[in-house]
Amino acid sequence: MSLWITKSVAELKAEAHEAEFGSDSPNLRRTLSLASLISLGIGCIIGAGIFVLTGHAAAAYAGPAISLSFILAGVVCALAGLCYAEMASTVPVAGSAYTYAYATMGEFIAWIIGWDLLLEYAFGATTVAIGWSGYVTSFLHDFHIAIPVALAGAPFSFDPGSGHWTRTDSLINAPAVFIILALTALLVAGINESAKVNNVIVAIKLAIIVAFILAGVSSFSTANWVTASNPAGAFIPPNAGPGQYGWSGIIRGAAVVFFAYIGFDAVSTAAQEAKNPQRDMPLSILGSLFICTILYVLVSVVITGIVPFDRLSVPDPIALGVDVIGLGWLSTVIKFGAILGLSSVVLVLLLGQSRVLYSIARDGLLPPIAAKVHPRFRTPYLTTLFTGSIVAILSGLLPIGLVGELVSIGTLFAFTVVCLGVLVLRFVHPEIQRPFKAPLIAVVGPLGAASAVLLMLGLPRDTWIRFAVWLAIGLAIYFSYGRKHSRLARARGGE
Ligand code: ALA
Repeated sequence: MSLWITKSVAELKAEAHEAEFGSDSPNLRRTLSLASLISLGIGCIIGAGIFVLTGHAAAAYAGPAISLSFILAGVVCALAGLCYAEMASTVPVAGSAYTYAYATMGEFIAWIIGWDLLLEYAFGATTVAIGWSGYVTSFLHDFHIAIPVALAGAPFSFDPGSGHWTRTDSLINAPAVFIILALTALLVAGINESAKVNNVIVAIKLAIIVAFILAGVSSFSTANWVTASNPAGAFIPPNAGPGQYGWSGIIRGAAVVFFAYIGFDAVSTAAQEAKNPQRDMPLSILGSLFICTILYVLVSVVITGIVPFDRLSVPDPIALGVDVIGLGWLSTVIKFGAILGLSSVVLVLLLGQSRVLYSIARDGLLPPIAAKVHPRFRTPYLTTLFTGSIVAILSGLLPIGLVGELVSIGTLFAFTVVCLGVLVLRFVHPEIQRPFKAPLIAVVGPLGAASAVLLMLGLPRDTWIRFAVWLAIGLAIYFSYGRKHSRLARARGGE
């Protein structure tokens, strides 16, 4: 049955060869060095998670032990990261998780994972663009510049707890639309240009985070752990109900700050543009994850040591932190850094999205126009423009409460499939050359999948329903178009 048709090792190699040496039509360009790839990873990882969510997660769930939540979420990501690293070094073509599923679990599952990645990247870019808009509004406010209310937000707000929609005074989130369109234009102009801009942003973002850690460490005091809900000033505040402080709070905190790690997987989508993908893919995926985990733990230790955690539930906790230690000027710099930092997250998510679509269309599961590469820029420009426009509309109209959790569920689903896929391929195709092998795969694969499912189960029912609707739309497209036009199925004479 064509549904379960898998790409053979020879076909994957042919694809990698075509990517390397070109075919008649223009191809993607292999220009990304190891440093650029690590920078892409960091560019995509450090964003709204640390700049926005940390404060709320500490205040509501974990208190000073939010650093343990970061370690826990980091471990879940490291398990998946090891599997992603093996996958990307073995199958170094664009849109890797999708391609990998094609080789291991068949076209149908590959389509589902590809469709799921589109959800992760589209809604990820939307969520972070909305966060970007919030920081820009606050930054401009510091200079007494106000964005008109009608242009400063979505026309509706959404409360994930009650599921209620409320009309706001705004018509459109114009800053969010602006950043998506500007970055889309950059992505069309070239991968090299995009990577250079990303490198600069990452350098600034890292400098700001390190400056915060250094500035904060001298004001650190465990006296700040004392709050009304933690009178004894314990590192792990006493449990006050399910998910409120104590160990259950640490776990819930981990589910929330998991968002901060999303993005290391996006590196694998650029495998086809890496100079030396087999060596550099694993190094960049695991390297960027490692660097970010260390920084996250340090930031969370410092922030809860300088501001009592019950005061941290603000949209810009890091800026609040420097205000508290009396470095008000640094707060504006930090906001500026966050604005730049969030831009690079959106950039890499938009990049990942277009590369996944490109791969799917090359396989014939979507119309070939989506795989068209610009003759001069050598980027999949039509796909980039199309996805950029859709994401711009979503960012202009949707409230942040609706989109964030969809990103998490989509990502965790992809983690599950990749962790299992890597394990399956070890048995089905033991002969394939694997430049990087995840250690103890019999433990790492199942544990990675199980921990991802566990975090998924912690997400609300509404998110599951929206996720199911998205998958149903994907299935309708596959059965009405993809299945009939699959390049592989045609080549094999409709097995
Ligand atoms: N990890 C990215 C962020 O925190 C998605 O913004």
